[in-house]
Amino acid sequence: MPQELDYSALIAGEAAMVMFGRQMAEAISGGEVIFLNGDLGMGKTTLSRGVLQGFGHQGAVKSPTYTLVEPYELKALTVFHFDLYRLGDPEELEYLGIRDYFTDQSVCLIEWPEKGEGVLPTADLLITITLAQHGRRIDWQAQTEKGRLMADKLKHNVVHS
Ligand SMILES: Nc1ncnc2c1ncn2[C@@H]1O[C@H](COP(=O)(O)OP(=O)(O)OP(=O)(O)O)[C@@H](O)[C@H]1O
Ligand SMILES: [Mg+2]
Repeated sequence: MPQELDYSALIAGEAAMVMFGRQMAEAISGGEVIFLNGDLGMGKTTLSRGVLQGFGHQGAVKSPTYTLVEPYELKALTVFHFDLYRLGDPEELEYLGIRDYFTDQSVCLIEWPEKGEGVLPTADLLITITLAQHGRRIDWQAQTEKGRLMADKLKHNVVHS
């Protein structure tokens, strides 16, 4: 794939973070693997809540810190929300049957993907959240053709909101 553009947006506050997640949902067509990079407390779970709301989920969203993954069977597709913070060894993902999670009818949102390095597939989209003066900065970058489509749609959604 040719060199990709790195897009970014400034997100002031929790509500705007949830809104960005909803805009991500609108840019998802199914089958995407999305890495959520960012330090402790940067807003990865908040962003995931927005994506889940975008697909119609109304309840709470807790980070699956101990179970590692939480499935949400929603109308359009299944969202698998991973939090790999406590994963000791990437090999443990094999025991979870990790390969079954990555299908065209599912979307995988993965917090702390670096803990699964070597076993996780290449992400279609990389999201990186960092601290900014009035909240957070989100950068997103495609790594596959599928990811490029999503990255462009997301940019469009953000610019036109
Ligand atoms: N854009 C934002 N601006 C300011 N605060 C935010 C923003 N997004 C999220 N927060 C706040 O940051 C805090 C941490 O959010 P969250 O739990 O989503 O982080 P996390 O990245 O999932 O952390 P962890 O690595 O522990 O899983 C929450 O109090 C949330 O309201
Ligand atoms: Mg979290």
